Amino acid sequence: MKICVIGTGYVGLVSGTCFAEFGFQVTCVDVNAQKIENLNKGIIPIYEPGLDDLVLKNVTSKNLSFSTNLGQSVQHADVIFIAVGTPTSADSGKADLSYVFKALEDLAPHVTTYKVVVVKSTVPVGTCRKVSDFLAQHCSTELFDVVSNPEFLREGAAIEDFMRPNRVVIGSQSERATALMKQLYRPLYLFETPAVYTSWESAEVIKYSANAFLATKISFINQISDLCEACGANIQDVAKGIGLDHRIGSKFLHPSPGYGGSCFPKDARALLETAKEYAVALSLIEAGVSYNDARKHKMAERVTAHFKGNLNGKVIGVLGLTFKPNTDDMRESPSLSIIPELVKAGAIVQAYDPKGMDEAHHFFRDSITYCQDAYQAITGSDVTLILTEWNAFRGLDLKRMKSLMKSPCVFDFRNIYTLKEMNDAGFEYHSLGRRSSDYAPSSKNQKTG
Ligand code: UDX
Ligand code: UDX
Repeated sequence: MKICVIGTGYVGLVSGTCFAEFGFQVTCVDVNAQKIENLNKGIIPIYEPGLDDLVLKNVTSKNLSFSTNLGQSVQHADVIFIAVGTPTSADSGKADLSYVFKALEDLAPHVTTYKVVVVKSTVPVGTCRKVSDFLAQHCSTELFDVVSNPEFLREGAAIEDFMRPNRVVIGSQSERATALMKQLYRPLYLFETPAVYTSWESAEVIKYSANAFLATKISFINQISDLCEACGANIQDVAKGIGLDHRIGSKFLHPSPGYGGSCFPKDARALLETAKEYAVALSLIEAGVSYNDARKHKMAERVTAHFKGNLNGKVIGVLGLTFKPNTDDMRESPSLSIIPELVKAGAIVQAYDPKGMDEAHHFFRDSITYCQDAYQAITGSDVTLILTEWNAFRGLDLKRMKSLMKSPCVFDFRNIYTLKEMNDAGFEYHSLGRRSSDYAPSSKNQKTG
């Protein structure tokens, strides 16, 4: 079976490469000629662990190729995946579908034999029906079927998530198309991956509500973390205590400076827009979204408050810029809200991120200093601010760190250190949902966090 993937972003490139790894013939197409030229030279446009090796392996075995020639790739393919971006529109919270429909416009003239057109991009409910109507205007309805097949790939773990997903969701109106999708995902059924066969609309809602649920879960734990700070409870213990209940689950209960990334903020916003169109109130999701936006600002305020509102000339060593570890993606990263506020208030920011420095430069330009490593970033600083939980920051030499800083104060917005180790190392330590003053080494009630 031959596959054409349109759009070689995170989702298209990972999906195309993994299907090639399953043994299918895959051509990944993109309008960005430079990207394709680079991919043909083995240069991968994103940082995603393991992806470079897998691309190389499948290009070498001739299962995977890259092209700008959409027409030819579509003609040869049995299945066409649409994996172009669906960013938030410039003028509303809605998903911008112009790239999806541009791709359809480009592919329609080349549908001369039966094809399954799979919508992989995250699209609002009703889009697959519109895609089908659009194609029907341009080619015979005998020649195509439309399928919704949302992705649930986490950046940084995308290959693992593709190869061992919790589930596969197929929204289809046609038995012929469903049978073809089954063939495509056959390698996963051998691992007994559960599959949900459903309608277009349900598949579309599954994708948005999964992301909105997880985003709301994070806002929930962040609010509980605020309560813990106020009342003296410890969020690590609380998350463990509630997460052990199987109905709640232990995942996605880490307090943070707010969720970011290319999906949660965009998808939660788009779902709210869809709800508005149907005059349905999604007040829980709405509250989670606005809390998350406000939280990023609150995080900057905490640092400002430490300096009694005067950040002028204060040096802040920032560790981590990407929205999560193991990616170079900066989209909607909390650092993009927090750092500009600190800089605007007069702070001097020295930052380091293991993979995100180039991307970060597009956003921060020369407003911050870019450092070679964590120790350089904290040298001479009045405060260290941990924004992303990269492994490289988990085992810093605390003695060395203290000797390099102007004053030993750490704001750890990812809770990667324990109260005990920071207390023992002599730091003034501010984390989320835990009070440092509660750590009393001699106390019988010693906290665990
Ligand atoms: C994906 C999904 O498509 C999105 O719906 C989901 O919610 C998140 O993941 P992502 O892979 O991150 O988006 O998108 P991006 O990195 O922006 O890549 C899209 C690619 O499609 C780009 O390489 C772009 O050049 C290409 N593209 C865009 C086309 O080939 N044709 C177009 O008409 C438009
Ligand atoms: C997410 C979904 O997990 C994936 O299924 C979907 O298809 C795409 O969007 P991704 O954005 O790559 O994946 O990262 P994820 O690991 O979900 O983290 C998203 C954000 O939530 C990050 O900013 C992360 O720091 C934050 N987060 C996550 C928390 O703040 N607390 C947590 O407990 C977990």
